[in-house]
Amino acid sequence: SPVAVLYGGKARERDVSLQSGAAVLQALKNCDIDCIAVDTQEPWVERLNKQGVAHSFIALHGIGGEDGTIQGALETLAISYTGSGVLASALGMDKLRCKHLWRGLQLPTADFSLLDSSSDFKQIMQDLGGKVMVKPALEGSSIGMSIAGSVEELEAAYALAGGEGAIVMAERWIEGREFTVAVLDGAALPAIELKTEHSFYDYDAKYISDDTQYICPAPLSDDERVLLADLAVQAFDSVGCRGWGRVDFMQDHQGRVYLLEVNTVPGMTSHSLVPMAAKQTGLDFESLVLTILLDSLN
Ligand code: DAL
Ligand code: MG
Repeated sequence: SPVAVLYGGKARERDVSLQSGAAVLQALKNCDIDCIAVDTQEPWVERLNKQGVAHSFIALHGIGGEDGTIQGALETLAISYTGSGVLASALGMDKLRCKHLWRGLQLPTADFSLLDSSSDFKQIMQDLGGKVMVKPALEGSSIGMSIAGSVEELEAAYALAGGEGAIVMAERWIEGREFTVAVLDGAALPAIELKTEHSFYDYDAKYISDDTQYICPAPLSDDERVLLADLAVQAFDSVGCRGWGRVDFMQDHQGRVYLLEVNTVPGMTSHSLVPMAAKQTGLDFESLVLTILLDSLN
């Protein structure tokens, strides 16, 4: 029976997912694996049943694909799937609850606060040092994110992040360098440093702009390299992740490192970050896709 590459979906990261899915499908084909692409925007369960699918590769980002719901459906259908299970997917999708978990485990993450309509925005601004990053807790690819440096900007950022009805958080702005570390087979791949001319690594800097710089392996001291790798694996394990993922970090000018989030279905376009880190270790895109798939069959 064919391996189903699940992609597309209804999330705001649909466009990214279409690219990830197309790249994964092509890689499987290059390896002569019988596979089909299934857009979960369509009646996908019927399609999987009709084709007798027993194994799947999840290339869905965001709500409805990365958040445990598809994973739960696949469990019920007894179809294997790549990456994290139901709980880790749901938890990994929720940046706010991950931060609570990391605080509890004394893993480093920037100070933060939930924002809702009853919050004291002025107090929050003061508590978080006067400059914050505002994020929807349940999005990816920097969708809905913006920086606020005043109470007025915080109000606008709250609305941009979805306002009432969304789960919105403010995080102390960390001035410094940004890194990401892929985790594969329980081990960290070489860190990548991201450099953007934008005020932060936003959607445009991620997918559109040509002037974002990716440095892999990131220029780090041995101690820093070990610290990032250890923290990435600890963050990944703390959420209960499986198979593969990517952990994002900031490092301030004093060298302190802060966990931003864990991605349970990172981008898999041909110029995405996990493939870039894998390549450093001699693993080409096809081998990476195969490794992820094989992990899911064990
Ligand atoms: N959410 C995007 C796809 C990523 O983390 O790569
Ligand atoms: Mg993300």
